[in-house]
Amino acid sequence: MDVFLFSFICCKLMFFLSESSFASDTITSSQSLSDGRTLVSKEGSFELGFFSPGSSKNRYVGIWYENMPVKTVVWVANRINPINDSSGLLVVNETGNLVLTSQNKSVVWSANLSKEVQTPVVLQLLDSGNLVLRGERDGGSETYLWQSFDYPSDTLLPGMKLGWDFKTGLERRITSWKSSDDPSPGDFI
Ligand SMILES: *[C@@H]1O[C@H](CO)[C@@H](O)[C@H](O)[C@H]1NC(C)=O
Ligand SMILES: *[C@@H]1O[C@H](CO)[C@@H](O)[C@H](O)[C@H]1NC(C)=O
Ligand SMILES: *[C@@H]1O[C@H](CO)[C@@H](O)[C@H](O)[C@H]1NC(C)=O
Ligand SMILES: *[C@@H]1O[C@H](CO)[C@@H](O)[C@H](O)[C@H]1NC(C)=O
Repeated sequence: MDVFLFSFICCKLMFFLSESSFASDTITSSQSLSDGRTLVSKEGSFELGFFSPGSSKNRYVGIWYENMPVKTVVWVANRINPINDSSGLLVVNETGNLVLTSQNKSVVWSANLSKEVQTPVVLQLLDSGNLVLRGERDGGSETYLWQSFDYPSDTLLPGMKLGWDFKTGLERRITSWKSSDDPSPGDFI
């Protein structure tokens, strides 16, 4: 009887641990996020995953507020290149690049890092809503290999900057969606 009770509790505990391990804010090198799974920032402010906007059936990777009753998307990765089924995979590949693939591993979108990265890389969704790629050992530093804040969609969040960055040559601007069903760039910048 005791053995039964013990294994019952162990089983429950393992179930609880495996459940809670889904609510992660990071993926590391050679791991991936499939359609249906999400990353949640540490304090639960933002969530990253696959979504279909409005009445569209297309799948996009985006970031939205975790606890808003109406899904409010603040950033979209593959704005102009939707996936037409649930085969999407967001991967941190072996050379440290962030790549979104669909059927047959065809690349739908990538973060387009300018150089190959040798060190192990971590993708993390921060509570600011910033999705960052950083070296695994650069825990607290704010030096990122790539960050979504440098590539705004249609939403400016606190901490984001607009305009020309002289150091990187980046021109950051926000662009409206084409419609509520289509996040591809619309008429207004
Ligand atoms: C989805 O897109 C792929 C190519 O990207 C195409 O081969 C396939 O037929 C499409 N499927 C549907 C249901 O439209
Ligand atoms: C990682 O992705 C980038 C961008 O698509 C690509 O250029 C690079 O070859 C990929 N690395 C590997 C090991 O597949
Ligand atoms: C996937 O690859 C296989 C073999 O390379 C090919 O036969 C098939 O048509 C491809 N499917 C799509 C949807 O591209
Ligand atoms: C990727 O970066 C290179 C050089 O930085 C640039 O020429 C190219 O247009 C970029 N590609 C995409 C898809 O953004």
